[in-house]
Amino acid sequence: MLSYLHSFHAGNRADLHKHGMVYWLLQQLLKKDKPFTYLDFYAGRGFYDLTTADSLKTMEAKEGVKQVIDQPWLDELQGWRDLLKTLNPAGGVRYYPGSPWLASQYLRSEDKGQFCELHPTEYQGLKRNFAFKLNLHTHQRNAHEALLGLLPPSPKRGLAFIDPSYEVKEECRTLADLITKSYERWPVGRYMLWYPLLVKIDYHQAMLKKLAKLPHWCQSEWQWANPNDATGLYGSGILLINPPWDISAFCHAWHDQLKRWFPPHSQTRFREQNP
Ligand SMILES: C[S@@+](CC[C@H](N)C(=O)[O-])C[C@H]1O[C@@H](n2cnc3c(N)ncnc32)[C@H](O)[C@@H]1O
Repeated sequence: MLSYLHSFHAGNRADLHKHGMVYWLLQQLLKKDKPFTYLDFYAGRGFYDLTTADSLKTMEAKEGVKQVIDQPWLDELQGWRDLLKTLNPAGGVRYYPGSPWLASQYLRSEDKGQFCELHPTEYQGLKRNFAFKLNLHTHQRNAHEALLGLLPPSPKRGLAFIDPSYEVKEECRTLADLITKSYERWPVGRYMLWYPLLVKIDYHQAMLKKLAKLPHWCQSEWQWANPNDATGLYGSGILLINPPWDISAFCHAWHDQLKRWFPPHSQTRFREQNP
């Protein structure tokens, strides 16, 4: 299948929601001296130029990161904004880091990065971006197989980011089974699963219902448009398994920020289950 290319969507509203969370989760892991592993199972190529034809065709970044770069940012996410400013000294946002590149900026030499990407040309880009860092490993590998094959990681502490393109209808069912099995192998791991909120499509509900059987999780959802007036993607969802203890405070602050950035239709939802 593999027709999805993230270059059409980089820097859009869903990226803001997910990368804000990835950045914050990494900062939580960095608070301890102990090394950790960051696993990015659907990595994409890692770094995006928002002036390419792909990006200009959809203009999604214009309604995402480009719209907010000069607005106030949450204190907890200032480091991410500083990174964007450093990458774009001329102002605006031309260069936008995807999740593996964002993480690579914060991993210490004793931490490990494992990045998987199946698309051949996306994988070549990913490999080029990280060829010179000894603690970062790229794999042209199916995430469905890697989700079991790379777990449990060493170092054992860590974060698994699961950010599929949901091109096939069965992806949600497959992922619910795979993540449940991954959790059995690595119950102490932190997992972040992204899912789209799409008009008239709710395959993700069955996946969430199955994963809600796990003991400790929370859910952050952001709708930026009213589904009755939208076409396609109207919001972004994140399921976190084994979230940090202070996730609720962060999510409420992050949701308030998103609503201030994107009035008037933004709505957010936070749910959690503690063991
Ligand atoms: C949403 S994009 C990832 C974006 C990236 N996580 C980021 O935030 O910058 C999803 C990526 O997963 C890749 N992909 C799709 N199916 C895959 C699979 N079964 N295994 C590994 N990668 C896959 C796609 O080629 C695409 O590059």
